Amino acid sequence: MTRPLEGRRVVLGVTGGIAAYKAIELCRRLVDAGAFVSPVLTDGALRFVGKTTFDALASEPVRTSLFDDPDPIPHTRLGQGADLVVVAPATARLLADYASGRSHDLLTATLLATRAPVVVAPAMHTEMWEHPAVQDNVATLARRGVVIVPPEEGRLAGGDVGAGRLADPGAIAQVVETVLAAGGGAAADDLAGLRVLVTAGGTRERIDAVRVISNRSSGKQGYAIAAEAAARGAHVTLVTTVDRPVPPGVAEVVAVESAADMQAAVVPRAVDQDVVVMAAAVADFRPAAPADRKLKKHEGPPVIELEPTHDFLVDLGRDKPAGQVLVGFAAETDDVLANARDKLARKGLDLIVANDVGAPGVGFEHDTNQVVVVSASGIDQDVPLSDKRAVARAVIDAVVEHRAQVADRSVLPAAPPDLRQTPKETHP
Ligand code: CTP
Repeated sequence: MTRPLEGRRVVLGVTGGIAAYKAIELCRRLVDAGAFVSPVLTDGALRFVGKTTFDALASEPVRTSLFDDPDPIPHTRLGQGADLVVVAPATARLLADYASGRSHDLLTATLLATRAPVVVAPAMHTEMWEHPAVQDNVATLARRGVVIVPPEEGRLAGGDVGAGRLADPGAIAQVVETVLAAGGGAAADDLAGLRVLVTAGGTRERIDAVRVISNRSSGKQGYAIAAEAAARGAHVTLVTTVDRPVPPGVAEVVAVESAADMQAAVVPRAVDQDVVVMAAAVADFRPAAPADRKLKKHEGPPVIELEPTHDFLVDLGRDKPAGQVLVGFAAETDDVLANARDKLARKGLDLIVANDVGAPGVGFEHDTNQVVVVSASGIDQDVPLSDKRAVARAVIDAVVEHRAQVADRSVLPAAPPDLRQTPKETHP
């Protein structure tokens, strides 16, 4: 069996949070995948987990201080020798120190000294994670190319439920692998100065005052694309039907519900965009005459007449400004590629991301996806089953590649100045 991290040198930073125990599992996974793992535990981490455990698992010596090493300059050596640095869990304090360039222990010194890609997996209580100061620090790091593995929603140490739980060690290990496989490239700044609009989630079409018809889209893939585009420097507008944590660095979030709302939010904004990614699962039909009141059970089962929604992706394709890259999605269960190619041509798209939603682990509600990125130029790129952030990276890579091809053939509008700004929430 090939080991994907064979011979790669990974510094594993562990900071002081309850989730530090999960870093033990991450360490084991990285070692099993063939990496040389050098754990660096902060004083805080040592209050939660023991050095001995990492000593037993890691291939390299465990370090806990700037001064416990015979090497007089371990902080620069470790960082310089690493192929990648991963911090899991990362506390709010670590994020603040790293974002502001403060070096007060071996881990922060290593982070400042390294030129290797850095992956950071934060974990903390929901209120802390959502605090603007923490989000600003995360956005700053993402903008500098640090790959952020966002915390998951779930049960936290205090017993309450919310966003803040450390991502699964398997998912973090997979991100480490993906970043190293991509040549180490943590987010490049290759979308700096570009405007990217991404739609996410399934639309909800009203039956009556309380009931809707919808679909199983979770919005995870759209959010991952928005996160990837923001991390690569774009000014990102996210038009969404779902209420998930806003990815770091996303400039504008527009909350919508129905296909008509989404159309009203997307179409006027699309003319100013360099890239539009329609990852949302937009309803094809809606109730023709939704009731304003709640239909009562004693009135018997309603007969709901459906009417088609307007396919506004067709409008976007027809009215596409010069140089814009328009990306559609095709969720299919049969003849995936043929249907995707047909949609690409029919809707005037540059790229279409096709997924076989009948296959295990693929598409709706899953954290993983397996797609083919089909291009109008006839080149297809298979993306094997990966977490949705890795798929997002492949989609954005295809967008960048498409822009480069078009630029070779013609003249693209020059990138405007950097448009990134702090997140704000608007409603159409
Ligand atoms: N889409 C849209 N507006 C709609 C329906 C779909 O903009 N009313 C967009 C979706 O966001 C997606 C793409 O169109 O990017 C593919 O949608 P899909 O409904 O699968 O395409 P159809 O042409 O309707 O194909 P099918 O025959 O599978 O229904």
